[in-house]
Amino acid sequence: MIGKLSGKCVVVTGAAMGIGKATAIAAAKEGATVAVCDINEVEGKKVVEEIARSGGKAKFYSLDVSNESQVKDVFSRIGKELGDIYGLVNNAGIAGASKPTHEITMEEWNRVLGINVNGVFLCTKYAVPYMIKNQSGSIVNLSSIYGLVGAQDAPPYHASKGAVRLMTKTDALFYAKYNVRVNSVHPGFIDTPMVSGFAESTGNKEAMYEALKKLHPLGRLGKPEEIASVIVFLLSNDSSFMTGSEVVVDGGYTAQ
Ligand SMILES: NC(=O)c1ccc[n+]([C@@H]2O[C@H](COP(=O)([O-])OP(=O)(O)OC[C@H]3O[C@@H](n4cnc5c(N)ncnc54)[C@H](O)[C@@H]3O)[C@@H](O)[C@H]2O)c1
Repeated sequence: MIGKLSGKCVVVTGAAMGIGKATAIAAAKEGATVAVCDINEVEGKKVVEEIARSGGKAKFYSLDVSNESQVKDVFSRIGKELGDIYGLVNNAGIAGASKPTHEITMEEWNRVLGINVNGVFLCTKYAVPYMIKNQSGSIVNLSSIYGLVGAQDAPPYHASKGAVRLMTKTDALFYAKYNVRVNSVHPGFIDTPMVSGFAESTGNKEAMYEALKKLHPLGRLGKPEEIASVIVFLLSNDSSFMTGSEVVVDGGYTAQ
């Protein structure tokens, strides 16, 4: 396919579902060869099949982003099999425990930070050498509105998304001289398995969805495709003068 990412290898983590899936599909539509990385092999392979059916190029890689030896091995295989990595979407993430800080266990805390923060660190670490070599690359990190403002839930998630926001700016400064851009995206509530799982856990999914809609001035949740289109923009040359930016896509949530 010919498009804004033609001939470029793009890695999307957590690409089996939700925002990652929509991003993998959107990047492939723009001509990218996509490495669909996830711990969920069944759903991940379905994404690859969907991309292939529409004439795009993708391959599934089983990957837990919090495991350094896996990241090292998978990113080396991607380079050999799909070509030098140009784009990295650090999307894999979990919501984790939602209760006050004094009730959170060390294990619950470390699990969220291990995936949401260490995962971004590790994937960036093993993708950047390809980008430096080619003096060209774009990294998009999924932070959140929860990386910008607080709320009375999920302390480890807030900590992780705040960290991702500043990891983005630091990496943007380090790698600018190599023409490698790094930006963060801050979605409001998006209708994905993460949010439906959270709504179900409250015992009244419908009521929770109604409450979540009211938090957004546009009066609804976002769709994964509405985040994917912004991520593709940040990956592509259309955003060539953007680095270290925090791009808010939240239906007005943080404008209040
Ligand atoms: N949905 C929202 O409202 C929302 C809002 C703001 C930010 N985000 C962020 O966007 C990203 C995607 O969210 P989503 O709603 O699509 O989530 P989701 O739960 O719907 O999908 C996440 C995907 O990540 C995968 N994953 C989980 N742990 C992994 C690991 N250790 N290694 C590799 N893959 C792993 C899952 O298997 C799944 O396919 C996350 O970083 C999330 O924090 C989501």
